[in-house]
Amino acid sequence: MGFIPENVIEEVLTRADIESVVSRYVLLTRKGTNMWGLCPFHSEKTASFSINPSKQIFHCFGCGKGGNAIKFIMEIEHLSYPDAIRHLGALYGVEVPETGYSGNDSQKERKNRVYDILKEAAKFYYQSLNDPDIGKPAKDYAEKRGLTKQTLDNFGIGYSPMSWNALYDVLIKKGYKDPELLESGIFKLSEKTGKPFDLFRGRLMFPIFDSFGKIIAFGGRALGDEKPKYLNSPESLVYDKRNHLYAMNFARKEQSKQLIVVEGYMDAIAMHAAGFKNTVAALGTSFTDCQLKLCSRYAEEVVFFFDADNAGQAAALRAVKMMMDYLKKLTGINIRIKIAKVPDGKDPDEYIKVNGAEKFKDVVRNALYVEDYLLFRAEHDNTDPRTGVLDTGRYQQDILTYGSWMNDDIKMSRMAGVAAPLLGATQQAVISQMQKFSRIEDKKQEQTDIRTLELERKKDIESRNAYDESITNDSDEPSEVTSPQIEFKKVNDQASDNEILLFAYALSLGNALADAKNISKTDIIRPDDFSGDTLRELVKIFLNIFDGKNETLFARMSDYFSRLSINGQPAEEVMLRAVSTADSSPDVKIKSDMYLALLCKVRTAIINREEDRLMNLRAGADEGGKKKIDEVLRKLSEYKISLQNRIGEL
Ligand code: UTP
Ligand code: MN
Repeated sequence: MGFIPENVIEEVLTRADIESVVSRYVLLTRKGTNMWGLCPFHSEKTASFSINPSKQIFHCFGCGKGGNAIKFIMEIEHLSYPDAIRHLGALYGVEVPETGYSGNDSQKERKNRVYDILKEAAKFYYQSLNDPDIGKPAKDYAEKRGLTKQTLDNFGIGYSPMSWNALYDVLIKKGYKDPELLESGIFKLSEKTGKPFDLFRGRLMFPIFDSFGKIIAFGGRALGDEKPKYLNSPESLVYDKRNHLYAMNFARKEQSKQLIVVEGYMDAIAMHAAGFKNTVAALGTSFTDCQLKLCSRYAEEVVFFFDADNAGQAAALRAVKMMMDYLKKLTGINIRIKIAKVPDGKDPDEYIKVNGAEKFKDVVRNALYVEDYLLFRAEHDNTDPRTGVLDTGRYQQDILTYGSWMNDDIKMSRMAGVAAPLLGATQQAVISQMQKFSRIEDKKQEQTDIRTLELERKKDIESRNAYDESITNDSDEPSEVTSPQIEFKKVNDQASDNEILLFAYALSLGNALADAKNISKTDIIRPDDFSGDTLRELVKIFLNIFDGKNETLFARMSDYFSRLSINGQPAEEVMLRAVSTADSSPDVKIKSDMYLALLCKVRTAIINREEDRLMNLRAGADEGGKKKIDEVLRKLSEYKISLQNRIGEL
């Protein structure tokens, strides 16, 4: 850590105002000096998630998560510390130096090699497709599928020749080595020869780009009926398929308010060719919350096409439930969801080929808002196709379930209004039943979330303790020369309640600590006032950045909290709880008195420990030694009495 210059982190924290960062994800309302909203990290019905603008932090009193803007982005976007800073830097116009941002240069280097390999591979596939001999079968297939030369070029489509090593040989000649080739995901290791061989053979190759046009993977279509129909690159150092959408690099350039999501590569390509350039495809998985968030970055409305078959329709329902849950949690994300259906059970590619682009416009226009889609599903799924009779029992169950998914009252009430006459009930009765379902569902979700959070926390703490070892290692020597033995220094993260509170009052006083009239220099906390490594370290950092006027003091401190633990708990959770106690002091005078009283108590505790130690030492000392120890003990006892008197006065 610490590879990003301090002044850059400082600037990011100054510019990326916590309120504006969080409100991209959470709907906030002001109450007193703080802002409140529903926690995006666990399900809840009443707001316990708060933003403190003066400290520039967020804190959830329900699940305990808290920290500064960087921590928030790390948690919500699942980014590493340096990547979160880079993300904020890009949003708020702070230049984060390329070289300095990664805590792990070798990882970055490896990634770049993989990107290069994938680019070279795409070139090779492209040339193979356009080679009159080698590419013939693929060219014929592409023509049969109606792919024009322009479309093929646009999407960088290529052909992987029928060979075990054609690509391998090309890349080896260019100087790439086996381990990095394997890391790219497009080679497999032969058990027989122990050498990598080409994963894609005899397939039409679709490069998969990230949103910015970098190749991160490939999908390869069989030219005939061989299985699997599509073979995809496995996930790798550069490819996490939950986070990407095929053709997003083109679609986002349209700056359309609407995105269309289809299931297949070929569907997306056909749509683009037909002029629907705002189309993306999920990458052979069910649609994920990360993909929805990606869409919300570029559009206000997403229109989904799911396959018309049973599996497709079941997937549609799962995706809708996932999205509604997600929108309930991320109340600041506003995106309209529509579901469209291609007539006659075709997929968009086939439909466009038969009916043309104009007709397909109507299909998009006929997409239903998610609540109307669910209303339709509930009625359609429970109506006997021969008699046309509605099974009201099942209908009721479905409609109450779907209604309970809604994240806004208007949608819920509209659904209830349509369902009520079919159920022979009042709209109000249906609404309250939907709300009851919703409460039960939310409780269940809340419990699952808490369990997940607990598991995450456990893992998190383990990784913090691994990190602790390097932060408490004071030497400035580069880690290469640190001998392995001293890296395993055991960190003592213990702290007494008084110590935690004392530090919390110091943080709460913040800049006032320097000017409070009754706090003298000697009354300012010192690292050795604290018994555990973690608090000592934090106090050391606090004294370093605290200079009486630092605006981002608290946000800066939070940065260090989130790397350490206190009593086996995430340090920021412990400290934020304690600070909120300290913050509730009515004025600075009372707060500084509380601070001083805690300081005296903590220093008394140190003396008590020191006295015990000296008494033990005394037992084994000679006469001269005993005399010296007695002298020290007498001074300590005087000091202790003076501290006791001060506590009494406060
Ligand atoms: P489909 O089976 O619906 O194929 O799979 P498709 O898109 O209509 O393909 P064509 O028109 O026959 O060429 C939809 C998507 O699911 C993934 C692919 O992303 C595909 O585009 N898929 C499908 C796979 O990843 N592997 C497979 O074997 C099949
Ligand atoms: Mn198809």
